[in-house]
Amino acid sequence: MKAIAIDGPSGAGKSTAARAAAKQLGYLYVDTGAMYRAIGCRLRAMGVSQNEEEEVARALEGLKLTLSFEGGDQHVFVNGEDMTGVIRTPDASRAASDFSKLPCVRQFLFRLQQDLGREQDVVMDGRDIGTVVLPWAQTKIFLTASAEERARRRFLELQAKGQDVSYEQILSDVRWRDEQDSTRKTAPLRQAEDAVLLDSTGLSLEQVVARIVALAGEGENA
Ligand code: DC
Repeated sequence: MKAIAIDGPSGAGKSTAARAAAKQLGYLYVDTGAMYRAIGCRLRAMGVSQNEEEEVARALEGLKLTLSFEGGDQHVFVNGEDMTGVIRTPDASRAASDFSKLPCVRQFLFRLQQDLGREQDVVMDGRDIGTVVLPWAQTKIFLTASAEERARRRFLELQAKGQDVSYEQILSDVRWRDEQDSTRKTAPLRQAEDAVLLDSTGLSLEQVVARIVALAGEGENA
């Protein structure tokens, strides 16, 4: 199986670029952030605190996460409920980051993610795909951009959806998540030693996708 692992901080454009690259290559695009978002939202809605790991572990025993792919678009379900439409808010981002710190939550999603990478050719994005989930991926990319550029993109995206947000708030959220995601003990965000660094600041989506597709070609020969 062929796998392209794309890791990097929030808002670097991973999902848009990964989806487009997967389409060009004919691979399945798997968005692991959506899984953390769906679980985080559900645990939050259940009133479970991320500071009580045993309580979280008990709650997870009653949860089942499944994915479906319709025309290449991933839908994420928790106990049969499609969460795809409710996981893109700032609250959902925080819940995902808060609960993703916990080893029991990571373990809960790890098997499903690994199985997907074993069963088909994938472009998978997240924070620990090249380091932990698919360490054997032929192509590993660490996609990043400056915090200001990432906040600006997220601001425009949320504004286009009609959400009332401030740029300063988003920039501070981006910085807070960078810090939390890269300093946690379990599977922190970091560039794999064999990953190629791709800084998307100032690059168009097309340029980023072209680079990913080119690197995938080189990875096959590696
Ligand atoms: O990629 P995203 O913004 O949708 O991810 C949401 C959060 O989930 C992110 O702050 C950290 C967490 N996450 C993770 O810990 N590991 C992954 N492989 C993907 C996401």
